[in-house]
Amino acid sequence: MSERPYVLLSCAASIDGYIDDNTDERLLLSNDEDFDRVDEVRASCDAIMVGANTIRRDNPRLLVRAQQRREDRVNRGLPETPIKVTFTSRGDLDPQAQFFAAGDIEKIVFCASSAVDKCRDRLSGVATVVDAGNPVDLTAVLAELAARGSDD
Ligand SMILES: NC(=O)c1ccc[n+]([C@@H]2O[C@H](COP(=O)([O-])OP(=O)(O)OC[C@H]3O[C@@H](n4cnc5c(N)ncnc54)[C@H](OP(=O)(O)O)[C@@H]3O)[C@@H](O)[C@H]2O)c1
Repeated sequence: MSERPYVLLSCAASIDGYIDDNTDERLLLSNDEDFDRVDEVRASCDAIMVGANTIRRDNPRLLVRAQQRREDRVNRGLPETPIKVTFTSRGDLDPQAQFFAAGDIEKIVFCASSAVDKCRDRLSGVATVVDAGNPVDLTAVLAELAARGSDD
């Protein structure tokens, strides 16, 4: 087991270099083929991490979509979809968001110390809330994920 997981950044960009526009709607930059490629990458990982704002704005489920890929993971002794991870300084997350509601898999919230009590109250029963320092120390977050068994 390594000290930190191998981290792969997944980000779609337009050919002119943008990752979002200035509307409130979710901007879809991928086509079906690319979403399937991303699903394959997701199925190869132990954990998937997004910022708290992505949960609030896009409400993603963050599950492996393809049945065959879920079965392959189970045959390899893994849960059918990676654990879900987020980080927040305010702890202002909706327990009914798809991040928490979808999938029978552990959800971990790394929260700044100042908001951890509020966050634990809000997310009681739907997520493990970890005190991640003030401000949140992302190096320590990665070390904690490695200690919990995530290699990538
Ligand atoms: N094209 C793509 O593939 C893609 C994918 C994802 C996002 N995006 C775009 O990227 C832009 C940025 O996304 P976003 O602002 O929604 O970011 P985000 O990463 O989803 O969320 C930012 C939030 O994460 C928390 N956070 C960030 N850094 C932190 C730190 N060091 N310690 C503690 N908490 C921290 C804060 O949460 P709290 O507010 O709860 O404290 C912050 O408000 C958006 O325009 C989004 O649409 C594009």
